[in-house]
Amino acid sequence: MTQISGSSDVPNMGRRQFMNLLTFGSATGVALGALYPFVKYFIPPTSGAAGGGVIAKDALGNDVVASEFLETHNVGDRVLAQGLKGDPTYLVVETDGNLADYGLNAVCTHLGCVVPWNGSENKFICPCHGSQYDVTGKVVRGPAPLSLALVHADVVDDKVSFTQWTETDFRTDKEPWWT
Ligand code: FES
Repeated sequence: MTQISGSSDVPNMGRRQFMNLLTFGSATGVALGALYPFVKYFIPPTSGAAGGGVIAKDALGNDVVASEFLETHNVGDRVLAQGLKGDPTYLVVETDGNLADYGLNAVCTHLGCVVPWNGSENKFICPCHGSQYDVTGKVVRGPAPLSLALVHADVVDDKVSFTQWTETDFRTDKEPWWT
C-alpha cells in the first residue's frame, strides 16, 4: 500500500517540481536576458582574442610570433599571413626593422585575385590584369579602382593581432572604402 501511494505521489511531486522549475527558469531567463546588455557592457571586447582581433597565422596555421618572425625576415619584406575572416593579409617589415602597425589585405580590388609582392619592383603587381600597388598597398595603376584594404597589426604578448581598420586611410586621407 505504502509503495502504491508512494508511487502515485511521485508523478504529482514531479509535476509540481517541474512547474516550479519552469516558473523559476522563465523568471531567471527573463532576468538574465535583461541583465545581458548591462553585463556585456562591462566585459572588455578583448575576451576571446587578443585586442578583440584575430591572431595572424602563418602558412602552416601556427600563430605568428613577432620576435621569431622578425629574426627570419628582412627589412622591406611583405609576407602573407592569414588575417581577419581568413583573408590573406600582408605583414610588413618596416625600414627600421619593426613590424608595421598595419597589415594589407592581399585581395585585389579589381576582381579579387591575391596580389603577390614583387620585391625587385618594390610593388604589389597583380598577375590577373596588371594592377599595381605601392609599398603601402596604395593603388598606382589600374584597372584596380581602390587601394588594398588596411587592418591594424598590433603585437600583443609577442603575437601579431589583426583588428579592423575603421579610421581614415592614411594613404588617401579618405574614409576607408572597406567598412
Ligand atoms: Fe587584380 Fe584584375 S584582379 S588586376
